[in-house]
Amino acid sequence: MSLTNRDGFSGKFGVIAAAAGSAVGLGNIWRFPYITGENGGGAFLLIYLLAVVLLGIPVILSEFVIGRKSQANALGAFRKLSPGKPWWLIGLMGIVAAFVILSFYTTVAGWTLEYIVQSITGGFHNKSTTELADDFNNFTASSFRPLLWQLIFMLLTAWIVFAGIQKGIEKYTKILMPLLLIMIIVVCIRSLSLEGSYEGLKFLFKPDFNKITAQTVLLALGQAAFSLSIGMGALITYGSYIRKDTPLIKVSTDVALADTTIAVLSGVMIFPALFALGESPAAGPGLVFITLPKLFESMPAGEFFAVMFFILLAVAALTSTISVLEVVVAYLVEEKNMSRPKATIIGAISISITGVLCTLSFGPLKDFKIFDKTVFDLMNYISANILLTFGALFIVIYCGWILKKQPFFEELKISEKIHPILANILFFLIKYFAPIAIGAIAIGAFFIEGLT
Ligand code: TRP
Repeated sequence: MSLTNRDGFSGKFGVIAAAAGSAVGLGNIWRFPYITGENGGGAFLLIYLLAVVLLGIPVILSEFVIGRKSQANALGAFRKLSPGKPWWLIGLMGIVAAFVILSFYTTVAGWTLEYIVQSITGGFHNKSTTELADDFNNFTASSFRPLLWQLIFMLLTAWIVFAGIQKGIEKYTKILMPLLLIMIIVVCIRSLSLEGSYEGLKFLFKPDFNKITAQTVLLALGQAAFSLSIGMGALITYGSYIRKDTPLIKVSTDVALADTTIAVLSGVMIFPALFALGESPAAGPGLVFITLPKLFESMPAGEFFAVMFFILLAVAALTSTISVLEVVVAYLVEEKNMSRPKATIIGAISISITGVLCTLSFGPLKDFKIFDKTVFDLMNYISANILLTFGALFIVIYCGWILKKQPFFEELKISEKIHPILANILFFLIKYFAPIAIGAIAIGAFFIEGLT
């Protein structure tokens, strides 16, 4: 492997498009609203925002630095920077996380394909929320269609990664993601215009700290990690494709801003409508698949918006799944000397096996529980709250204590000027604040709360 034959991004905008494409996905539009809804709204949002700024941005930056400095995949990066030390285990954990995430993510991504078809064929027409909820439950419980869509989605992902055409995707992402933003804003306006919508805004923006427990803080942190695509090495892998003249701090903050804007707007899209319809915010994973069709149904030209929206949502999911599969493929190619096609096929097939179990969790396997959770719920929980959280923890520990300040900033200074005060704040966050905060939250949630 040499520097010259690594595929690379075309420049700052290419990186932002790809990293934002990875970050913006089902995590923002599907996962964020339902987790926020289940965990008290406003106070959860506040902790989430703090997590993005104080922990998320430092971790994004750390991953980029590790990747660009080492010019290697998530696991190889640590081997190269710290040969003979066990730090590569962080990378290994990331590969495991990639498996776990893709398993349940492709289930939900498959649902978006079903909802494209439903909106084209007028499947939401004149339906009440109860009927839409029944439709959602019946569809997810039926095994064949959800499985078929999941496999189609996995094939699409594999095909893009296989052909190594992320750069082609970049081109479309730059047009499609702003389009998604516009669609979301249109739906927000409709949602806010409904009678009774104010209650939803209050739920989302007015913090009620009585609802906060150590577990909620962990869920907020896990959601931030999931949504920003950190803690897994996806951004290490992407970092290794970033040119030396691309300003990493600027890219990191832009990506975090874009991702968070879409998440918050998704909340503004869902909660006002939900409260206006008199529904419960704690509906779980089906939340947006029930509320959104109802909203479209009540809009002028709603069918058109519904089709567009679900297509863009599927594209957003696709730009995320390729970044996850890329982690596995880059590892197999660079560390196991596999050809790219072979690595893609092996990755996609093995992930599909656990993926099938996730999809069947809503039907035949719904009573099969581990730690009181279905396979889908377990994968969903473990990925964000354990694997990514601990991944992020080890990444900041690595940058703060092993790589150290001087080499860390050497890499950053190649591409941008950094004010010494900013450098000090950043490194304080990476070396002390993030490790202590993430460590304390994880310990608080698992041990203290677990015991009470
Ligand atoms: N961030 C994506 C989303 O919000 C999911 C995702 C893509 C991801 N790549 C990742 C999460 C890497 C963690 C790590 O939908």
